[in-house]
This record gives sequence, C-alpha cells and structure tokens, in this order.
Amino acid sequence: MKILCVYYSWKGHTAKVAGQLADLLHVTPVRIEPAHESAMFVKAMKALLGMSSPIKPVKEDLSDIDVLVIASPVWAGKVPPYVNEYISRMSTCEGKRCYVLVEMGGSEPGKAVSHLKGCLRKKGMMFAGSTWAREKDVDADMVYDRLISFAETINGKKVVLL
Ligand SMILES: Cc1cc2nc3c(=O)[nH]c(=O)nc-3n(C[C@H](O)[C@H](O)[C@H](O)COP(=O)(O)O)c2cc1C
Repeated sequence: MKILCVYYSWKGHTAKVAGQLADLLHVTPVRIEPAHESAMFVKAMKALLGMSSPIKPVKEDLSDIDVLVIASPVWAGKVPPYVNEYISRMSTCEGKRCYVLVEMGGSEPGKAVSHLKGCLRKKGMMFAGSTWAREKDVDADMVYDRLISFAETINGKKVVLL
C-alpha cells in the first residue's frame, strides 16, 4: 500500500506532527509551499472564505498512491488557502482513501475537519478518518500516542516501535 503524506505548516507545529506521523508510516512527508507570502489579514480572510492561494509545484498526480494523508493547521476555523489549492490541483484521486490531521491553537477541530472532508469528497475521495493536535501539546511532545493510533488506523496494523 503506497501512502502519500502531504502537509502545510507556517510556524513548524504541523510540520513536526506530520513528520512524526510520516515516520510511523515509513514515508517521507511532502511539504506544500506557498508560491509567495501574503499579509496576515489576506491569509486569514482567504482561509475564512475557503479560498485558494498559489503554491509551488508539488506532487499532485495521485495515480501511483493508494492512500492520502493531509496534515494542516487550522486557520479561521478552516484551513490555509494553500491547502485548498493543493486539494483543487490533485488529480487521479477518485475512489482513493484519505485521512486528515488538523493542528490548531485553541479551537475545536470539527469545523476544519468538515471543511476538508467536503473538499476531499468533492474530488471523489473516500474520507476514512481524522485526528487532531493542539499546538501546546505539540510543543510539549504530548501527541505521539495519538499519532501511533492514527498510523495504526491508516495502515490497518500495529505500529512496532524499535
Ligand atoms: C491566519 C491564522 C488563523 C488562525 N486561526 C485559528 C483558528 O481559527 N483556530 C485555532 O485554534 N487556531 C488558529 N490559528 C493558530 C494555528 O492553528 C496554530 O498556531 C498552529 O499551531 C499553526 O501551525 P503551524 O505551526 O504548523 O503553522 C491561526 C493561525 C493563523 C496564522
């Protein structure tokens, strides 16, 4: 089973959890990078409105993968415009399983997960599960057990820690 783990991270917290999850899944995480930076207000408004912003070239043809995992911070209750852009660019993804990991400050994860679920279903993907992490717990290294159980759900087998 070939798994693609993609993530966007501005300040590094989502990069940290995406990296740990990717290690548990034995894959190399792929970073979504903005083509250019914009003002904080623009970032927040675009996230709130579910809009996209340009990203650098990244693997978007999913023909050779079986399972997609997207890790994203929560912005304005939803996700950064770069994540929306990535999803809109994905091709040959119909019928494939997908999972999401959302990472955030203080909100509940439900709205961002629903947003991603809707976007991924529109692409014809099978939404199979989600998990979440709070920034303070990421900083305190308190989310590893949850990542292990998420990796086991994705892989369908126990993670063996060496
Ligand atoms: C534009 C913007 C909007 C945000 N909106 C929310 C929000 O609605 N709810 C929340 O809990 N955190 C929000 N945050 C905080 C981030 O989700 C949090 O800092 C996260 O850890 C950032 O991940 P990163 O370090 O991978 O960039 C927002 C951050 C930014 C920059």
